[in-house]
Amino acid sequence: MDFLREAFSGNNRFVLRLAIIAALGGFLFGYDTGVISGALLYIEADFHPSSFEAQAFVGALLIGAVVGAILSGFSADALSRRRTKIVSGCVYVLGALGSAAAQGPTQLIVARFVLGISVGAASFVSPLYISELAPKRIRGGVTSFNQLMIVSGIFAAYIVNWAFGGVSGNWRWMLGLGALPGLILAVGMYFQPFSPRWLVEQGREEEARDVLRRARSSEDEADEELGEIKAEAKEEGSLRDLLSPGVRAMVLIGVVMAVAQQLIGVNTVIYYAPTILKLTGVGTGAAITQALSVGITNVIFTIVAILILDRVGRRPLLLVGTVGCILALVALGIFFASSTLKQEAPVVALICLIAYIASFAVGLGPVFWLMISEIFPLKVRSAAMSVSTVANWSSNFLVSTFFLTLTGAITIQGTFWLYAGFGVLAAIFFAFRLPETKDRSLEEISHEVSSAEPEPESG
Ligand code: BGC
Repeated sequence: MDFLREAFSGNNRFVLRLAIIAALGGFLFGYDTGVISGALLYIEADFHPSSFEAQAFVGALLIGAVVGAILSGFSADALSRRRTKIVSGCVYVLGALGSAAAQGPTQLIVARFVLGISVGAASFVSPLYISELAPKRIRGGVTSFNQLMIVSGIFAAYIVNWAFGGVSGNWRWMLGLGALPGLILAVGMYFQPFSPRWLVEQGREEEARDVLRRARSSEDEADEELGEIKAEAKEEGSLRDLLSPGVRAMVLIGVVMAVAQQLIGVNTVIYYAPTILKLTGVGTGAAITQALSVGITNVIFTIVAILILDRVGRRPLLLVGTVGCILALVALGIFFASSTLKQEAPVVALICLIAYIASFAVGLGPVFWLMISEIFPLKVRSAAMSVSTVANWSSNFLVSTFFLTLTGAITIQGTFWLYAGFGVLAAIFFAFRLPETKDRSLEEISHEVSSAEPEPESG
């Protein structure tokens, strides 16, 4: 495999090590996404929360993530990507221990909000940091380690939920165990270098050269890249630049990808897979086991994406993946609309869910986080990624909160067809507007974006 051969050769091994530690930010994100559905059952038995409080246990994290994504848009520039990740690891430890020790619903909601701040920050600073360190030939694959960690975190949470099912005080363990990867992230990042792009922006060129020389195959390659970064870093940026013609078009692409990633319904599949499978008539135990196969598929196909993203390119994978999700959603809707299918072939629902998650795992899952770390010029990169990430967490909040209400209003098949409709709009947009970023340096990409024709003045 080209990716593996490249990634394990020479100085790329150094990049690989940095990417694995940095991607732990994704693990925190995934662990929380996966753990709460299992823990909730036991928390409800202990605290007897009102239905508002029960929703707030889930929602507080998502709202915290929106706040974390805004704050880290500033701190990734002011404090550095590296320090932002150290702080986010520490905040995560506090939030996880706070959740585990909560004595009542309010304390738990506050602790989950704090966790969310950390998750929102880590969600985009991880891919940002990795893509700024990686050489262009393997940037797609190594940056997507972040997505691999997200899906591994989700899967690890399923296993923890299952393993602690019969243990007393189990939900406290489920939530508290998250402190461990948080701690490893904070300590690991303490020993990592700063991003070379951030160093150049601070005028610390010699340190940037040093990092690049350790991360590139030759000194010449490092020096050439440093030259490109310096040329780009000369340009001053302000928030207003987010609205300049070329950048504005990219911000729109980032936001559309962010919203599409959620409106296609991925987290309803993640949160509600057992519930959806139970509707097909299988028992609770079988539904949970089948949901595990959805989790494993997510991991396996994310690995496939990592292996081929740098060869096949981002655009083809995103398009094929989005079309795959649409077809699976349409088929899932047909399944729920047909009483014959439900009675005679309940396995069809499982096949559709697996096809759906495999398509998401090669498309919108990794490609969204990767491309928002590639398409913005350095001067606005953190701010523009922050805007896209806020759009992602806000839509995650809306879709997850209203899934059950929506199925009540327009039936479950109607809900899946609605998601498919959003997918069709997104696929059309991607086909016409998405650039290819494979095998190009971040500076080449942003040069093209910034030199986009200004719009003709009207009047
Ligand atoms: C999305 C998450 C989702 C996960 C599932 C990520 O890229 O941002 O919302 O839970 O993928 O695979």
